[in-house]
Amino acid sequence: MEIIIQDWLSLLLRWLHIITAIAWIGGSLFFIWLDLSLRRRDGMDKNVQGETWMVHGGGFYHAQKWLVAPKDMPKELHWFKYESYFTWLSGFALMAVIYYWGAETFLIDRSVMDMSTGVAVGLSLAGLAAGWVVYDLLCRSPLGKNTGTLAVSVFVLLVIAAWGYGQVFSARAAFVHVGAMIGTIMTANVFFIIIPNQKIVVADLTAGKAPDPSLGKQAKQRSIHNNYLTLPVLFMMMSNHYPFTYSAEPNWLVAALVIILGGVIRDYFNASHAGGIGIRVRFQWPLAAALVVALVFITGGKTLLSGNSGTVTSDTRAVEIVTTHCVSCHASKPTSEFFDSPPLDVVLETQADMLKFAPRIYAQTVLSTAMPLGNETGMSQSERDELRSWLDAQ
Ligand code: HEC
Repeated sequence: MEIIIQDWLSLLLRWLHIITAIAWIGGSLFFIWLDLSLRRRDGMDKNVQGETWMVHGGGFYHAQKWLVAPKDMPKELHWFKYESYFTWLSGFALMAVIYYWGAETFLIDRSVMDMSTGVAVGLSLAGLAAGWVVYDLLCRSPLGKNTGTLAVSVFVLLVIAAWGYGQVFSARAAFVHVGAMIGTIMTANVFFIIIPNQKIVVADLTAGKAPDPSLGKQAKQRSIHNNYLTLPVLFMMMSNHYPFTYSAEPNWLVAALVIILGGVIRDYFNASHAGGIGIRVRFQWPLAAALVVALVFITGGKTLLSGNSGTVTSDTRAVEIVTTHCVSCHASKPTSEFFDSPPLDVVLETQADMLKFAPRIYAQTVLSTAMPLGNETGMSQSERDELRSWLDAQ
């Protein structure tokens, strides 16, 4: 019974998380575009930075950006913050259901570090909080005065976190924690910096006072970070469904390249919305392509290029390996205490079953060490090689 409740909770929370994240990211991409598309027109109020016209859904929209409060402050001023808060809350709840409730299965990998559920959950929570504290200190420190130095420091912080998580958690949990750390930094930016600063600025403007420009500057800096971190965080979240990403060696390098890749792609859009020309909008795609090639190589190329031993594993031996290492979970009636039904409906009881799932077995067991889950059954590298040779021959 527990498994059906856990799976339903996980499904509903994932649904909510995706919906709120679409609303948040969608809104933020729209505002970046809006900001960069503003143009000045003759005869405009001097307090208006620019305006833009849009057509959508059968009507025209006309938006202007005011740098000071209009004389008659509109009664209804729309704020955008709950999308971000609910993305974090639903994401955190989803992580708790999968990784805290299922800590034995998904968070802890005894071959990495043996620990109790309590310690693992404590480490996870402490890591998220520490990520924000260190990031915030970096931004406020002298390093934060220079955009470039700050960007490099935040990048180094995230890569160290990726490495550190890999020393304590399962590879899959390590990756999702890097994503969660970035997501936490992004929402905390909205909650602790962007919205409070905006509130002070609005209050000052309404009172006719000139707001402190450093408030706007600080909010802008955090907003730019959020912008560049958006694409990497989405990749880190999705990578959970692609074990070759998180179980590559070394997986912190995969995380590092993904952060650069996402940032570079985002930079292309920022530069082109702002009307960038020449090298400013030309370097991103070739660099992104090179990064993807590097990622493919790190995650799979080494295995594929290493070739096969030559002797083909017999059918009986292949079935024997799978029966030893996989069938406790992947059976119509699993004997593993963690599962009542075969995970993702993958049943591997017969040779025909193995053929049916061959490419997926290859991805999970040969290209990555994602299966057996947490290497619960202690599968050795030579057994993986034997299985690979059988799969290659099919
Ligand atoms: C301790 C239990 C356990 C063992 C042992 C185990 N698996 Fe799995 N397997 C799982 C779970 C749980 C999932 C679902 C993971 C998820 O939800 O992403 C899964 C998913 C899979 C999938 C589907 C992944 C996908 O997204 O396509 C394949 C294929 C697979 N396992 C193959 C194997 C093979 C091959 C072995 C033996 C070498 C094995 N598993 C051993 C628990 C196990």
